[in-house]
Amino acid sequence: MDEDSRRFEVINAKVGIIGSGKIGEALIKGLISSKKLSRKCLCASDVREERRKYISKKYLIECLHSNLELVDKSEVVILAVKPNDVKKVLHGIREKLTDKHLLISIAAGVTIDFLLKTLGKPIPIVRGMPNLPVLVREGMTVLASQNGTEEHLAMAREIFESVGKVVFMEEKYMDAVTGLSGSGPAYIFMVIEALVEAGVKVGIPRETSTLLAAQTTLGAAKMILETEEHPALLREMVTTPGGVTIDGIIQLEEGKLRTSIINAVVKATERSRELVLND
Ligand SMILES: NC(=O)c1ccc[n+]([C@@H]2O[C@H](COP(=O)([O-])OP(=O)(O)OC[C@H]3O[C@@H](n4cnc5c(N)ncnc54)[C@H](OP(=O)(O)O)[C@@H]3O)[C@@H](O)[C@H]2O)c1
Repeated sequence: MDEDSRRFEVINAKVGIIGSGKIGEALIKGLISSKKLSRKCLCASDVREERRKYISKKYLIECLHSNLELVDKSEVVILAVKPNDVKKVLHGIREKLTDKHLLISIAAGVTIDFLLKTLGKPIPIVRGMPNLPVLVREGMTVLASQNGTEEHLAMAREIFESVGKVVFMEEKYMDAVTGLSGSGPAYIFMVIEALVEAGVKVGIPRETSTLLAAQTTLGAAKMILETEEHPALLREMVTTPGGVTIDGIIQLEEGKLRTSIINAVVKATERSRELVLND
């Protein structure tokens, strides 16, 4: 039995992804690898011809030029274009979008109100904020919904769980989410980069230092998720009285590591609020 003749019951709908860029491709890859959806039930679109060729060749799915055709073929339409392209795309597809569709938008700063006003009709909508690690199927996606049924929400959850973890929150948290998990990978990359340089400074070869820093970060994050302990308690577990780690911690406190990170999230949240598109 080939892959497409088996039954894929997890996502019981045809899914179309408008915009086959970084996040669009990550979703295609996640949905196919997780086997939640058969290739026959998945299609994508893009304005660029080379991108369409690449996607259809690599993932063996239809990658269309026409967004209208995609909407015709899909029950769930995922909008994965840049925020500035959202209005144009919606104007192009609104005649074909009906309340039988579920529209999922991941465009940063584009509110559900903006989407509904632009469409001019009450379509079930889910707004999502994924982050870059969806590319390696370890993303964190926050979803908010309007007019969606339980079935729609379950479907949206399944789609984004194919590329990582998912939580539902009220839409009012989206700017804060953008500042924390949306921008967060950049902060963590900086921390890892600093650890790598530190390793080099104390004599560890760069390649090994990179592995040590990245795996230490991954392990620490996994311990928080798996033990559900407070990070401060886990930190205490590494900090022997009079030992080595406390000397490192004192340096981090002097450099105001925690204050700097809190300030970074606050500033990014404020910036996200400034950039919101709602009319
Ligand atoms: N990257 C992240 O970490 C991240 C995190 C959270 C949310 N998001 C959101 O996810 C969305 C996609 O981001 P991305 O990083 O994947 O962007 P991207 O790599 O630029 O992908 C968007 C793709 O859509 C294409 N496109 C533009 N207009 C189109 C149209 N009318 N019809 C079909 N395709 C069209 C683009 O082509 P051109 O390049 O020719 O324009 C590009 O290939 C954005 O709204 C962003 O805010 C991204």
